[in-house]
Amino acid sequence: MKISTTDDCTALQWLTPEQTTGKKHPYMFSQCQASHARTIFPCADTPACKSTFSYSIRSPLPVVASGLPTTLDSYDPKTKTLLYCFEQKNPIPAYLMAVASGNIGSVQVGPRSWVYGECEDLVRYKDELDGEVEPFIEIAEKMITPYAWSVYNVLVLPASFPYGGMENPVWTYATPTIISGDKSNIDVIAHELAHSWSGNLVSNAGWNHFWLNEGWTVYIERRIGAALHGPAEFDFSALIGWRALEESVKLFGEDHEFTKLITNLVDQDPDDAFSSIPYEKGFTFLYHLDNSLGREKWDKFIPHYFKTFAFKSLTSLDLQNTLFDFFKDDEAATKVLKHDIDWEKWFFAPGMPPKPKFDTSLVDVCYELAKKWEAVAAGDDTSFTPSPSDIKELSSNQLVFFLDQLAQLPKPFTPKQVEMMADNYHFGDSGNAEIISRWYGIALKAKDDKWYKPAAEWVGTVGRMKFVRPIFRGLNQCDHELAVKTFEAHKTFYHPICRNQVQKDLGL
Ligand code: BES
Ligand code: ZN
Repeated sequence: MKISTTDDCTALQWLTPEQTTGKKHPYMFSQCQASHARTIFPCADTPACKSTFSYSIRSPLPVVASGLPTTLDSYDPKTKTLLYCFEQKNPIPAYLMAVASGNIGSVQVGPRSWVYGECEDLVRYKDELDGEVEPFIEIAEKMITPYAWSVYNVLVLPASFPYGGMENPVWTYATPTIISGDKSNIDVIAHELAHSWSGNLVSNAGWNHFWLNEGWTVYIERRIGAALHGPAEFDFSALIGWRALEESVKLFGEDHEFTKLITNLVDQDPDDAFSSIPYEKGFTFLYHLDNSLGREKWDKFIPHYFKTFAFKSLTSLDLQNTLFDFFKDDEAATKVLKHDIDWEKWFFAPGMPPKPKFDTSLVDVCYELAKKWEAVAAGDDTSFTPSPSDIKELSSNQLVFFLDQLAQLPKPFTPKQVEMMADNYHFGDSGNAEIISRWYGIALKAKDDKWYKPAAEWVGTVGRMKFVRPIFRGLNQCDHELAVKTFEAHKTFYHPICRNQVQKDLGL
């Protein structure tokens, strides 16, 4: 089949050479989740349908597509292209079809893993990921079932990639913002790898059951974190997630349809419903099942679930039925499932779920420091004088937690207080996107105009919606004209999906 695309093809972004690191070659990549595959090729674009894929793609530049490479053949001197072929023999839903082409090279980072990226960036990518991926795979295999996709590679995309990561089979696509130089953001890779089971092997049958994909994935990602760094890490990550959940519920409103685990998406674009809620409410529910049944029983159910639904799609009800069925001869477990789990409420009640008990040992220092700044913001008379040593011992993730805590304070800082923090903590100089984006958030909330320009400049260099959208919302509240001018200046840099969302956010 020969097809061509138009400007309405929201799944593909075509970058000019100037928009790449190397500046010499164009670049093209796809992002099909949730419902953009249909803008590339005619398909049953629902996660309920799965099929195998074979790709044959001509390009003057290296190609990756979500299968295993087969032939590389037939140079065509007229178009100066090679034919790149890939086979995906596992049935997958259309949203997992993916393709990219550009001046892409690769370096091995594990026995069955390579990192791919623009050639100029490869050494940095290798340094960040070398040796990190295989332990993730082995832990997940031990907990669930053998890895089903032969190799696990990561393609690091140009900065306009609209998500942190996308679990395209064989090649996870990732934003370059995960390459922070200190490995502090590679939990994104554990997350995308976990989708090799939850999402790619076992898929939600509709986007209204999206929590089955993301909730399970966050749960597995945190189990991987716990296996590598100890149980406190699990709770730490869950506490960061809990706060993201609170923020999302606040943003939508606690009665909003999109705050439910099972959402009604009739006449809705699933991209508009996207938030931390399916991730974190989904995680909380699975963790609740884990705690209620007990780890030993729950861990026996995990492989059973993934074997039962491998290469299939399911709804929330299928999960519920499978759980009851699996424990039907276990009286105690059946009693728990029947009486202790309020299924109706978990699935259909809007707003926050009950909060699990978490170990706060890694966040206590963050709370303490944030308390001191809360007193500063409130104008209380305190003896606190900030100094760079306040944060010297804190990890990147602890800084993230601290900044999130500040962002939630009832009273915003004054510009003067923001400058006091800047002088001592230098968050504005951070090379870690998780930190710098939150810092701009705090400075903008304080209406500290010294940071408007740096925030506007930075937002023109990243396309990950998680960072771009809050910064545009913040800028918009400070200086609508600057927000619009910034968006117009970088419009072609952003991926179409991101462009559309920001346009909506700015009311354009
Ligand atoms: N599958 C999602 C990305 C996605 C979701 C794309 C819905 C389009 C529609 C991916 O696995 C994901 O969750 N990415 C996160 C990573 C994070 C939770 C570690 C992201 O992009 O921030
Ligand atoms: Zn995910």
